[in-house]
Amino acid sequence: MRKNIVAGNWKMNMNLQEGLELAKELNEALKGKTVNCDVVIGTPFIHLATVAATVDTSRIGVAAQNCADKVSGAYTGEVSAAMVASTGAKYVILGHSERRAYYHETAETLKAKVTLALDNALTPIFCIGEVLEERESEKHFDVVKSQIEASLFDLPAEAFGKIVLAYEPVWAIGTGKTATAAQAQEMHAFIRSTVAQRYGQEVADNTSILYGGSANASNAKELFSNPDVDGGLIGGASLAVDKFMPIIEAF
Ligand code: 13P
Repeated sequence: MRKNIVAGNWKMNMNLQEGLELAKELNEALKGKTVNCDVVIGTPFIHLATVAATVDTSRIGVAAQNCADKVSGAYTGEVSAAMVASTGAKYVILGHSERRAYYHETAETLKAKVTLALDNALTPIFCIGEVLEERESEKHFDVVKSQIEASLFDLPAEAFGKIVLAYEPVWAIGTGKTATAAQAQEMHAFIRSTVAQRYGQEVADNTSILYGGSANASNAKELFSNPDVDGGLIGGASLAVDKFMPIIEAF
């Protein structure tokens, strides 16, 4: 059966020392505690190796926030999936709306990134979600469906089974405007049925679908109590242990 996952996305925050401090604090906070979800932290590239060597990676999975769409070679400034894997990271966040919007990531480049991540035994946390205008014009289901189809539905079932999905309505990211529990559940159920149509009910039932967008200690319990919400991808509230731990403990 699918896993519950609470994943932090630090985005472009924390220098190396600050990030390492935060990772250590989280590691301490989890020590000796039983939690009912997998915990992941998505750090900037430069933190990955140090953080992975410092935390108990059996308790905290380390994630990159991106990887290259090429294997290796003359791509100045890029970081390959193999490089990410060599740091001890086990996950990679792909297709975040900030990368789609600001760095022009397309369905095609994301498809290549997903394949390379899987080839390197990384678990992609694949983000999807509509902008406000698309929700207001009631296109949100179509938008999310086509994001999934365009980058993931050429994968064989076995490969798709390794992917974690994260529904992040863009209008809820960093705005303090969380989707209601009902809006989250409605979309997550739709996503699961979309996966079931392509890969069958068993694969769909085994797919973890996380919610992201202004999730915090106050709303996590209600969001996570929905049958199709299997955890969260947390931005702002993952940057301090006293804000992140209550979200982990909401399960
Ligand atoms: P916030 O939790 O800061 O809204 O960010 C969500 C997000 O984009 C996580 O990837």
